Amino acid sequence: MKQTIKKMSVSTSGSRRPRVIVVGAGLAGCYLATRLQDCCQVILVTKGTQQESNSMLAQGGIAVALDPGDSPQQHEQDTLAAGDHHNRKAAVAQLVTNGPVEVRRLIEAGMQFDRTAAGALAFGLEGAHHRPRVVHADGDQTGAAVTSFVQGQLAKTIQWHCQTTVVRLLTKQNRCIGVVVRGTSGQLQELFADAVVLATGGLGNLYDFTTNDGTVTGDGLALALRAKVELTDMAFVQFHPTLLSLQGKCYGLVTEAIRGAGAVLVDEQGTRIMAQVPQQDLAPRDVVARHLAAWRAKGHQTYLDIRAVPDFEQHFIGVTANLDAHQVPFRQTKLIPIQPGAHFMMGGIKADLMGQTSLPGLWAIGEVACNGVHGANRLASNSLLDCLVSGAKAAENIIEVTCQLTSPTTENVTGSIGVATADFAEAPQTEPVKLPELAALQHQAWTNLGIERTHHQLHGFLRWLAQFDADTLAPEKLTADQNVIANLCLCAAAIAQAALAQSKSLGAHHWREVDKNESCAS
Ligand code: SIN
Repeated sequence: MKQTIKKMSVSTSGSRRPRVIVVGAGLAGCYLATRLQDCCQVILVTKGTQQESNSMLAQGGIAVALDPGDSPQQHEQDTLAAGDHHNRKAAVAQLVTNGPVEVRRLIEAGMQFDRTAAGALAFGLEGAHHRPRVVHADGDQTGAAVTSFVQGQLAKTIQWHCQTTVVRLLTKQNRCIGVVVRGTSGQLQELFADAVVLATGGLGNLYDFTTNDGTVTGDGLALALRAKVELTDMAFVQFHPTLLSLQGKCYGLVTEAIRGAGAVLVDEQGTRIMAQVPQQDLAPRDVVARHLAAWRAKGHQTYLDIRAVPDFEQHFIGVTANLDAHQVPFRQTKLIPIQPGAHFMMGGIKADLMGQTSLPGLWAIGEVACNGVHGANRLASNSLLDCLVSGAKAAENIIEVTCQLTSPTTENVTGSIGVATADFAEAPQTEPVKLPELAALQHQAWTNLGIERTHHQLHGFLRWLAQFDADTLAPEKLTADQNVIANLCLCAAAIAQAALAQSKSLGAHHWREVDKNESCAS
């Protein structure tokens, strides 16, 4: 069956300015857009609304060496140690040195971070930081505060396409020249651009338990996989130790900043779970998540004991509201029931320090990208900082690259709207579509691609996935729900394959010690 694809008309005004399509409405994409808007025509495409992203949900703040006693070097050391030294050093150096510049820039633009009574920036402590270094805004609602502030800086000239899913990257002569989107009308449309930036976040919804926004379903990673763009470090999925856990379900994040303020992890008998571990409750996340998982596997329940946290409700307004919404009696018990869950993808689309991917014309920033900054396990509150730094660097690079492309001699190479023809062709019809139920996929991923892995389970999971042949499905022919599941299947296979290639445990990838009956080489 032939699909019609409408060539979309994007209004252009006056002289030819480079056209940039940004996919994703979180902090990375919006910050990049603020840096491009004066010299480029920016089109922001997002699958949900402007409010739906992981950035909006981020409770931890922004880790940044701005305290007089701190330094980029100290921040660098903590980032490398948390990342199990799998980090790309140049990316870490860029993060810790450019980070303070970008945060200062935000402050100069009017962003209000939380301050001490004396008016200085207030720095909070989080896991694996050797000193308080995390700035917050509106307490535990930093992500929403910063992202909304940055969205408020976007010019009116920016075209937003909300409720619009990118189903495919358009390529021509080994160059990304735009995207195929499906908007609210359901019709497929081609959008052409001089540069395409993926800022779609990670893949938390691959798992049963996650902190991620419901829209975060590995879409950018799947787009890259289908276009044969290089991915890297896919074995490294971060599991956050503390998600609110009630009757076997999770209801959002309980920020690590609460442990930074003195809370500790206990079981139903009040026994401290992390007491014997270096850095105790503020050990790196992978370490804490594994300890909690092991404790729970022995049949224990796990809680965050908040007795030592002063003014809990005042400092943790968002968490308090969530606890109240779920009628958790924390005021009486001083306990919050928690369990680990999927939080952040360290791996992703391989990008250089400017966000350039293996496909010319395509950039990737924020969580969907992997420039190596997070290593095998991200340091707490480094992700919003990376959104700012990677967004700013990519914007700089896009301006440089697209200015050459839009010079009169080369303009036709990338194609003008409605003129260029892409390599995009009709994919074979694959009827009927056989895909797993989302819940079944999430359960399989949680069981087999989770906090601890075995060769046996990974091979079994790949065999289970193979029956669906998700990589042969043409996304243009799938419903929105099927597309999400197909994308997550592609991501799951990439994680399993990358995990199998790991010879040893490292950071967030951990081999479980198998018992003698369990084959290691199935
Ligand atoms: C948290 O608040 O615990 C999460 C912060 C982060 O992921 O960096």
